[in-house]
Amino acid sequence: MAVLEILTLPDERLRQVSAPVTTFDDQLRAFIADLEETRLAGPAAVGIAAPQVNVFQRIVIVDVSGRKNTPNHGHLVLINPEIAHWEGFEMAREGCLSVPDYTGNVIRATRIRLTANDPWGRALTFEMEGYEARAVQHEMDHLDGTLFVDRVVSRRTDLFRRKVYQPGGQAAGSA
Ligand code: NI
Repeated sequence: MAVLEILTLPDERLRQVSAPVTTFDDQLRAFIADLEETRLAGPAAVGIAAPQVNVFQRIVIVDVSGRKNTPNHGHLVLINPEIAHWEGFEMAREGCLSVPDYTGNVIRATRIRLTANDPWGRALTFEMEGYEARAVQHEMDHLDGTLFVDRVVSRRTDLFRRKVYQPGGQAAGSA
């Protein structure tokens, strides 16, 4: 396994749209192990997406189980994720490993129904809400080249410079 380099703004590669995964093989699963090791390196993030490490395939990892009082489905490897249904909107603070100097207030759907494949290609469906649903939406944005800074309503009032980088903090986990 290996810790991979994380692309950060203003790297234009973060803007690339990722391709669906079509082959579910040992090479894919080895990459997922590296992606997970990278998520956990340093202060652990609640999520990571393949394009953040310069791999433009539709693969994300989300795990908000370490966060207090947060409904969750544990450790999730989501390949080719799609949101089939969403409900409600709420604003909350987000951070990102690729935007280490800022956090921001972003509006996301409160509840989503998610479909995806697991690393063996099997179909998954989840109903999720709140912070877990937010983390998944944040990671899925990476697959389309979108960053949370693109979604803040006002860069003047909704972007906040970090004094000390604290991913995984309760206020604004990084993803
Ligand atoms: Ni991110």
